[in-house]
Amino acid sequence: MSKRHVTTSVNGDSVEFLCSTEQTLLDVLRDELFLTGSKEGCGSGDCGACSVMLDGRLVCACLVLGVEANGREVETIEGMSDGEKLHPLQQKFLEHAALQCGICTPGILVAAKALLEKNPDPTETEVRYWLAGNLCRCTGYDKIVRAVLDAAAAMRGASAKPAAASSVQMQSA
Ligand code: FES
Ligand code: FES
Repeated sequence: MSKRHVTTSVNGDSVEFLCSTEQTLLDVLRDELFLTGSKEGCGSGDCGACSVMLDGRLVCACLVLGVEANGREVETIEGMSDGEKLHPLQQKFLEHAALQCGICTPGILVAAKALLEKNPDPTETEVRYWLAGNLCRCTGYDKIVRAVLDAAAAMRGASAKPAAASSVQMQSA
């Protein structure tokens, strides 16, 4: 079967690969590029374990064809940390023990990062709604939600000078 040549960007690096027309982006990431952080839970768009960013939009990589990545920008869990320095979301997931088996974790981290880029100060309800497409069989979700809220607070505190402002808001809320 003939394969297609695809040129794309993954986590800021130019990448080329060959794939068949029916291979999903998730298959390509895992089997051709050996980026195995994105997981396959369902393969049908229901669990969110394969969540990646495509041109800045959160997508299920199991529902995108590899050929559709041509000329576009893909971000995966492998691009989340800054070298050895964990992203605040990753750090807070560790601190809150917000994972057990870890299958859902890469997808939830990618999805949560997308949320915080759109909304740096989400409510608990907003976090729960945003992550409704990411299923976890293990944690019961509370630790995940706490970790995301804590990461959001840490990220706001790390920017310009909102630490004092946000603590005032929290006290007056
Ligand atoms: Fe893609 Fe479940 S593996 S949504
Ligand atoms: Fe096991 Fe979420 S930690 S599925």
